[in-house]
Amino acid sequence: MSIKHGIKTLAVVGASGQMGNGIAYVAATKAQIPRILICDQSDAQLDKGLAFFDKLLAKDVSKGKLTQDDADRARASLTKAPGGAASLAEIHQDGPPDMVIEAATENLNIKQSIFKTLASTLPLSTILATNTSSISVSKIAASAVPENAKAGSPEAWQSPARTLGLHFFNPVPVMKLVELIPALQTSKDVTDRARAFAEACGKTITVSADTPGFVSNRLLIPFINEAVMALESGVATKEDIDTTLKLGMNHPMGPLQLADFIGLDTCYYIGEVLLRETGDSKYRPSVLLGRMVDAGWLGKKSGKGFYDYN
Ligand code: CAA
Repeated sequence: MSIKHGIKTLAVVGASGQMGNGIAYVAATKAQIPRILICDQSDAQLDKGLAFFDKLLAKDVSKGKLTQDDADRARASLTKAPGGAASLAEIHQDGPPDMVIEAATENLNIKQSIFKTLASTLPLSTILATNTSSISVSKIAASAVPENAKAGSPEAWQSPARTLGLHFFNPVPVMKLVELIPALQTSKDVTDRARAFAEACGKTITVSADTPGFVSNRLLIPFINEAVMALESGVATKEDIDTTLKLGMNHPMGPLQLADFIGLDTCYYIGEVLLRETGDSKYRPSVLLGRMVDAGWLGKKSGKGFYDYN
């Protein structure tokens, strides 16, 4: 028997960033979730995100991928979360969402604070998902405990069980994968419903244990790092490294171009997580990658990385 996700209201935290915006987009257009609350740090950021959302809808309508009616319905499903900007504690005001997907900055303290607030205000029936690409999902789940729950109480045990990792890939509307990462605490029912939701978003699901970098970044980040080290040691030019992988292995982007696309700070950060949490020196981020981050050369988002984007 196929499991139903049962999500009628979805909230996306960090909805104006590339990932959050893309998640809201596939939830609205593919899964056709009737009500999607978008939440971010400022109204101005949310408006910027909505403008990008509108641009994507218009592009998909013009290419015949969506009917105008479906685009209008998708757009109408989006609402700013009640209370305006940064209003996590008020997200439940007009009825609690069935699921929240957090796609905020990749920072443990920020995520822990978000999950504590969500767990303190939303009923146990709300699934809490994180789009983290490298932080321990079990650690995030452990913070999803209501503020006033006593240690060892049923609430303190039950709340982390509705938390899991749903790792989307950039650009979300294009990339076909979602990596599903149950925390140690996650219940089977929550895992099954989250899988059904991600499938409704048009994605193929792979499951990874909650280990550093999961499957995707455990393989991708050392690959990118090796390409940077090849450049650093003069094996080939950046263009030849990228062209070798693009034309020799049919990758859509070479590793250095992909590093620019992901963000060099993100690549460096995930490399550090892999190194710290495994203790294995094979994950040590290259010196050149670190220096480029020091210089503020973060790739596409800063206008300069291995390539120039101005
Ligand atoms: N949002 C939505 N759609 C986008 C987009 C965005 N930000 N960027 C591009 N697209 C769409 C375009 O609109 C276009 O759609 P249509 O086919 O409907 O026209 C389609 O993608 C192709 O775009 P382009 O023709 O402009 O460019 P392209 O053919 O060179 O493809 C690409 C661009 C899809 C990004 C492709 O280069 C690619 O697949 N690159 C690899 C991306 C990748 O590996 N992503 C994963 C990164 S790792 C990660 O996200 C997770 C992590 O934890 C680090």
